[in-house]
Amino acid sequence: MEPFRLHLFVCTQHKPEGVTSCPASGSLAVLDGLDRAIQDRGLNADVQLTTCGCLGLCDEGPVMVVYPAGVWYRHVQPSDVPEIVDAHLYNGQPVARIVWNDALAMKAMSIEHGQKFRQAMAARDKAGVLPDRLDQMIRGYWPSRCILTALELDIFTAIGDGAGSEQIGAKLQVNARAVAMLLNALVSLGLLTKSGGHYHNTPESARYFIQGSKDNHRNGLLHIANIWHRWSTLTDAVRRGSRVPIARDPAPEGTRDFIAAMQRNAKDRAPHLVKALRTSGVRRILDLGGGSGAYSIAFAKASPEVRCEILDLPEVVPLAADYVGKAGVSAQVSLRSGDMLSAELGSGYDLILLNAICHMFSEEQNRGLFRRIRQALAPHGRLAVQDFILNPDKTGPQWAALFSLNMLVGTEGGASYSEIEYTRWMKDAGFAEVSRINLPGPSDVIVGLAK
Ligand SMILES: C[S@@+](CC[C@H](N)C(=O)[O-])C[C@H]1O[C@@H](n2cnc3c(N)ncnc32)[C@H](O)[C@@H]1O
Ligand code: FES
Repeated sequence: MEPFRLHLFVCTQHKPEGVTSCPASGSLAVLDGLDRAIQDRGLNADVQLTTCGCLGLCDEGPVMVVYPAGVWYRHVQPSDVPEIVDAHLYNGQPVARIVWNDALAMKAMSIEHGQKFRQAMAARDKAGVLPDRLDQMIRGYWPSRCILTALELDIFTAIGDGAGSEQIGAKLQVNARAVAMLLNALVSLGLLTKSGGHYHNTPESARYFIQGSKDNHRNGLLHIANIWHRWSTLTDAVRRGSRVPIARDPAPEGTRDFIAAMQRNAKDRAPHLVKALRTSGVRRILDLGGGSGAYSIAFAKASPEVRCEILDLPEVVPLAADYVGKAGVSAQVSLRSGDMLSAELGSGYDLILLNAICHMFSEEQNRGLFRRIRQALAPHGRLAVQDFILNPDKTGPQWAALFSLNMLVGTEGGASYSEIEYTRWMKDAGFAEVSRINLPGPSDVIVGLAK
């Protein structure tokens, strides 16, 4: 039995540049238009909209099919969407001018396409051509580097409401020929548009990359640009076994960018952590390496009873104080500077947080920290370690496995660790019970209970 009255499949099969495909003919805009129209017309309980792979009719794209009747559309354009929704989805009348019902021709075309595709793949395989998947992975840093450079130069802000390359070059005091090349590449990546020699931000770039925009992520994303230089040392770091010195001094704004990046992630995750750990019975929290203070802020807001202490490095404390002040919880959240690996932690805490901390340290450092934390907890107090947790053989999840290398290039002894390791270290430190709480997103929590 069909759970939905109608099920729409829109082909969004990605193909190499220059090869005919539905996305190249505009199927993504059609998909987007259909999605919005279905929501606007309140049809989402009735109509299921999904993407699908190549239907073998690429020259006739964008192609879409409506089931259960099996109505095939070709050459669908975003301008056709209102009519499809009104006539077909709403009133059950397919839009005849774009319906394709020559079943024999469609079947023959699709079968021929499938045969040609398999022959082409076999020929490439025989010739030893590098598979596209590998090629894309290897060159993956090209688009990344374009965006990071554009963010470093603040190109999106310089473009503002639109500008030519000469104008942008002069404004940013960079080479006009080179900046034109970069701007054109950004157009090719879909991050800018170009008309009449003028470049414009896309709605997405304007929203996320322009200084002063409400959802501006530039400062946080500059952290990714900063760690680029460390990732360039990966080969040497693997040879050596830990981070290698680099000539490039960290930019003075590096700490601000880093904390902005932490804030961006932590602000979204904090409500999930508060919900997972709950505040009942929690009065005193120690937030070690609290960064922007996002987690302490969330706990303080969740309960007026809670008092949080953030301990972080001296250069970070003023930044955290600013976030805490702006959140209006200064009366509940205090700050002190120090090195968590050696500072006196205090005593009697109900909850000690290590959010995105343990990956910076070696096994030995984490074991030592856990032992000191165990002593600083009140009876029945908890240690919560939130991090990217590896599976037992450490080959995944992919994010955690790659993040481990981020720590190899950036720290002396840091890495991603597995649940088995965290559990062992907590038990060895004297925690009575250890459990795992999965959170939405890439990080989870290991909780140790002191008895
Ligand atoms: C990856 S950030 C995590 C920040 C915050 N807990 C969060 O999840 O958003 C690591 C934090 O630990 C701080 N930190 C690093 N080493 C430290 C140390 N030895 N003592 C105290 N804080 C440290 C950094 O300044 C930074 O704020
Ligand atoms: S790419 Fe859509 S039918 Fe082939």
